[in-house]
Amino acid sequence: MIKIFPSLMAANQLNLEHVVKALESYCDGFHLDIMDDHFVPNLSLSPDTVNQLAQLTNKQLSVHLMVERPEEIIASLNLKKNNVVAFHLESTQHPEKLIQEIKKRNLLVSIALRPKTPLSSLYPYLKKIDQVLIMTVEPGFSGQKIVPAVFKKIEELSNYKQVNGLFQPIAVDGGINKDTIKQLVNRGAEIFSVGSAIFGAKDPASALQELYDQAA
Ligand code: DX5
Ligand code: ZN
Repeated sequence: MIKIFPSLMAANQLNLEHVVKALESYCDGFHLDIMDDHFVPNLSLSPDTVNQLAQLTNKQLSVHLMVERPEEIIASLNLKKNNVVAFHLESTQHPEKLIQEIKKRNLLVSIALRPKTPLSSLYPYLKKIDQVLIMTVEPGFSGQKIVPAVFKKIEELSNYKQVNGLFQPIAVDGGINKDTIKQLVNRGAEIFSVGSAIFGAKDPASALQELYDQAA
């Protein structure tokens, strides 16, 4: 079964509580982007906002860190058990330490890779983490188109998992819509962070349902 996580940076920021309450019974969880205007050229949800959202819902949250010095942000997060924290491999010299820091807090660990970051850089850590986040666009902005090269990358990661008996689900983020979701499912992606295709629609709940239908 695939999972869909609406990405709240694409939602109306004046109305996040309403958005979460309106969609929580139709989705698997929510994807929350934290950006610092350094690792990526944009700012999004702050750790305080993320912590408040974590109090608001029992759905699983997937917090995607696009920041320099992710260790500092991790220390300021107050999330429920089994929520996911994804950090970018490119943002740290100490991935092992970060993995331990996240686990220590009873959270699940995900490693995110930019479209151009090779899968080989992930492999030494794959056994130690809970999922992988393959960026299907350059991180930073909602509303971009998928970078075509990532289709092959996802396929390669699926094959690698199979050959090595690994089961960490592949999450994808960026450019996912009703026309692209099935192509990603076919290549082995299982968890989908979706921003503009849900929040740019007139009726976000039915756009979400349509994505589940297309993915099936
Ligand atoms: C972009 C963010 C995404 C973003 C996706 O860097 O990580 O989560 O919200 O937005 P869409 O689905 O519009 O590409
Ligand atoms: Zn994201």
